Amino acid sequence: MGAESIVILTGAGISAESGIRTFRAADGLWEDHRVEDVATPEAFLRDPELVHRFYNERRQGLLAPEIQPNPAHYALAELEARHSGSVLLVTQNIDNLHERAGSHNLLHMHGELLNMRCGQSGEVSFFEGASSPADLCDCCGEAGLLRPDIVWFGEMPMHMDRIYSALDSCDLFLSIGTSGHVYPAAGFVEVANAAGAHTVELNLEPSRVESAFDEHIYGAASEVLPTYITQFLKG
Ligand code: NAD
Ligand code: APR
Repeated sequence: MGAESIVILTGAGISAESGIRTFRAADGLWEDHRVEDVATPEAFLRDPELVHRFYNERRQGLLAPEIQPNPAHYALAELEARHSGSVLLVTQNIDNLHERAGSHNLLHMHGELLNMRCGQSGEVSFFEGASSPADLCDCCGEAGLLRPDIVWFGEMPMHMDRIYSALDSCDLFLSIGTSGHVYPAAGFVEVANAAGAHTVELNLEPSRVESAFDEHIYGAASEVLPTYITQFLKG
């Protein structure tokens, strides 16, 4: 076990068994919507009502009582609680299931569905409702400025300095439930390899960057991840 420094990357696959659709599966989110229509700054300028509605639907879905963390989320919270070294969890997901499972040292590189941001002041506030372009922001008191605090295609992901600094000094890198389609997240394994870390991909099937990993464990996250974490903590 040791005082190893661990960096973990999660993607939509870790929340799939909680009932949240992934992006690129056969019934994935991008099958119903063109990314260009709902998840880009241009889309928001062109049709803010559609973009607000897209994220309102996902927010209400996330708040449904049947959406709960699954054993994979809890396994990562247990690792953080019991591992003597540092554990940084970086998620591409915008849901709050890692927090609800008990993870604390957590960075959302694509933002959070339960936050809204003012496009003028940058102020971020917790939000559980349904938004619209007519909403006034508390900071400027104007309509049309509020947007989901989510990183869209073409925008820079968040917390990148902290993420690269952790990757540069990690001993173990776990990638869980991500297809490796989208950069910069898909390139994290190369940074971890350059740091001399042991790199493990845990996914339903090989990702687009599977060849960069030292170790591969395929299966459903709620099954393979608790087993992996239990073995790891035994040392
Ligand atoms: P992208 O997939 O288009 O690519 C990100 C960057 O990596 C781009 O600069 C691209 O040139 C580069 N890149 C792409 N493929 C590469 C490769 N094979 N090798 C090296 N570099 C490569 O993502 P984006 O347009 O920059 O989107 C920014 C972020 O917004 C992404 O991380 C995306 O996941 C996120 N996003 C979030 C949501 C959401 O709803 N949360 C929706 C869409 C996008
Ligand atoms: N257990 C483990 N892995 C799973 C499971 C599961 N139960 N179900 C699906 N997966 C895997 C799929 O095999 C796939 O490789 O999770 C991955 C999900 O891939 P995507 O749908 O592409 O989601 P993700 O990799 O998170 O997308 C990255 O792209 O659209 C943007 O911002 C969006 O954050 C997202 C980013």
